[in-house]
Amino acid sequence: MIPTSAATRAPAASKRASAQILKSLNALTNPSIGLRPSFILIQQLQPHPVGRRTFSTSPTKTAIKEFFPQKETESIRKTEPAWPHPAYTYDQMNAVTVAHREARTTSDKFALRAVKVLRWGLDLATGYKHEKATALNVHDPAAANKKYAMTEEKYMIRNVFLESVAGVPGMVAGMLRHLHSMRRMKRDNGWIETLLEESYNERMHLLTFMKMSEPGLFMRTMVLGAQGVWFNALFFAYLISPRTVHRFVGYLEEEAVITYTRQIKDIDAGRLPKWEELEAPQIAIDYWKMPEGNRSMRDLLLYIRADESKHREVNHTFGNLDQKEDPNPYNSEYKDPKKPHPTKDLTHTNEIGWDRKDVI
Ligand SMILES: [Fe+2]
Ligand SMILES: [Fe+2]
Repeated sequence: MIPTSAATRAPAASKRASAQILKSLNALTNPSIGLRPSFILIQQLQPHPVGRRTFSTSPTKTAIKEFFPQKETESIRKTEPAWPHPAYTYDQMNAVTVAHREARTTSDKFALRAVKVLRWGLDLATGYKHEKATALNVHDPAAANKKYAMTEEKYMIRNVFLESVAGVPGMVAGMLRHLHSMRRMKRDNGWIETLLEESYNERMHLLTFMKMSEPGLFMRTMVLGAQGVWFNALFFAYLISPRTVHRFVGYLEEEAVITYTRQIKDIDAGRLPKWEELEAPQIAIDYWKMPEGNRSMRDLLLYIRADESKHREVNHTFGNLDQKEDPNPYNSEYKDPKKPHPTKDLTHTNEIGWDRKDVI
């Protein structure tokens, strides 16, 4: 793949010529693009800084459709995100690790089992066979790579599907707590905002991937069906046992951290060459305030993984609290601010969630 940054800076005539050359080269060098049109197409490069392409670097038939182009209006220049994203440092993001909270109660075990079943289904649907690949890799690395290697397209399918369902639990929980507060005429103690913010953040993950890919009809139908089932299942589950749902989401987020960690490792190992060249879309640069020079796909995955680690922590913490009485520790002022406590950003982290006795 040829970087296009030089081409975008060239004068108009040479820009057109470059575009033609790039089109021809991409057609030759990327025969695999669009192999699974019913699933997803992924954008190969993000040549223009605002995410709009002045020319296509993909063959015409695989050009990425702009799902939500920015709408020009007479008076409005820009609409800011409703929940500004907290700042993360690179040291904090690099310190994010895969972690697992041991299932201690029956409700924990039920939540963990439910996540394992879902994970199995998603692996099957998206062709993700990490365990098998690792096992085969021990005896025959070449065969393992040929048979099970995750490609950029496969990862993108997984990410889009994952993010499209990940934004539901926070919205369901926030909505139910909002209704409960009004119905019972009681305070909510600050949980609603964090839950809605989580679902907003997940939707930003999805919108970011949508700027880099184009899901096909099959994928869109899967998302539609999954959302219908998923929303209703969570709605009833949260009414029955909110604590179990928070634990379940905590375990789900553990899986999300694993998935994004593998993608980062695969980029570092040179297994995802198309993503080495890929730049983060403008929507992501604005939302995470990604610093100049650190706007690659890898950087983007670091931010997203850090978000998932925060969801993991928040939901495990919520699963440890008294659902009716306890205030939201992520929205609170502490009597002793020097003592480590839950925060919205990554200042203090606790992978397996804060215990009630330490925060309330
Ligand atoms: Fe996410
Ligand atoms: Fe998440």
